[in-house]
Amino acid sequence: MKRRVAILISGRGSNMAALIGAAKSADFPAEIVAVISNHADAPGLATAAASGIATAVIESKPFGKDRAGFEAVLQRTLDENDVELICLGGFMRLFTAGFVKAWYGKMLNIHPSLLPSFPGLDPHGQALKAGVKISGATVHFVIPETDAGPILMQGAVAVADDDTPQTLAARILEIEHRIYPEALRLLASGKVRLDGDLCRISGIAGTGSTMISPAID
Ligand code: GAR
Repeated sequence: MKRRVAILISGRGSNMAALIGAAKSADFPAEIVAVISNHADAPGLATAAASGIATAVIESKPFGKDRAGFEAVLQRTLDENDVELICLGGFMRLFTAGFVKAWYGKMLNIHPSLLPSFPGLDPHGQALKAGVKISGATVHFVIPETDAGPILMQGAVAVADDDTPQTLAARILEIEHRIYPEALRLLASGKVRLDGDLCRISGIAGTGSTMISPAID
């Protein structure tokens, strides 16, 4: 049985589109049953609808600081769709600790840095300011702290001296679109285990490749 997944977005939804694309494969262990946005004008809603995915809008603005009120409506929508797993894809609203605890181990987020470096806003600007030579993207389980939690998968890119936040963001976004579907595949197929604050993955062979930046001979 495929795991039932909701994707929560606030804007463009390119990670959402990558997840929807991957989930079209017959052998993918999850299906995207709903895309939910807290903004009616999120461009990703049209992309989801064009793919035949049910969409819902729960405007967060009228709730103001009443996070629990917003989450009660969100939870109802998740229940109505029998959602088992949540993927956040550029969902720019904080949750209460209660909601996060209820979904602990079942809610993923993607952030465009190698966490725990550069959480929060402007991660690409933060990376360039710090002068790191390698940056990337992280898929992690959601905990109450923003852009933190057990790390499921990361992908890296070299940072060039002439990178701008925009050029770096574009390269990292390509990595995001590759790792998010793979991370969901691992979670939905039962290969992921939480071990305290750490995420362990079974059935992964080898350690993959090495990256040195700047490149050396
Ligand atoms: C992505 O780069 C995602 O990693 C980032 O927002 C962008 C959403 O783009 N998320 C965060 O910064 C979370 N703190 P998308 O709507 O095209 O997927």
